[in-house]
Amino acid sequence: MEKRKLLNLLLVGALSLPTGYMLVPYGSFFVPPGTGGGGGGTPAKDALGNDVLATEWLKTHGPGDRTLTQGLKGDPTYLVVENDKTLATYGINAVCTHLGCVVPWNKAENKFLCPCHGSQYNAQGRVVRGPAPLSLALAHADIDDTGKVLFVPWVETDFRTGDAPWWS
Ligand code: FES
Repeated sequence: MEKRKLLNLLLVGALSLPTGYMLVPYGSFFVPPGTGGGGGGTPAKDALGNDVLATEWLKTHGPGDRTLTQGLKGDPTYLVVENDKTLATYGINAVCTHLGCVVPWNKAENKFLCPCHGSQYNAQGRVVRGPAPLSLALAHADIDDTGKVLFVPWVETDFRTGDAPWWS
């Protein structure tokens, strides 16, 4: 009998161990990124690799400014300064949706113009001329308690097109 008990215990242990592991990712699936829980978000980095502080950034970047920072997964991502001198709540991923060139901002044209094959995107990164098939990806640009700008994956509807985000 003792032996059987021991075998049962071992069996239960063997079954619950993998189940327990499986519950962890399952549970974390329901925690929205960027909300509470400490962490959740990737600090935007400037050209020197320093964290971007919103108030400092706004001292040197005026209304309408679009400047590259390092964003999610290291992707070059534009921080946008709105006309009311606040940071936009979204960043624009600069990787062209055609073949992946980094798309420069053209202030005079008020567009992003891809130098590789001529694709054009409006000031919010919505594609207005091909061959690029899709708009530039978005990321949330949040400001944490310490004033740092954090990029958080954008999983909601693309506000520019009303479509589901193709990048998530
Ligand atoms: Fe931008 Fe081809 S990579 S248009």
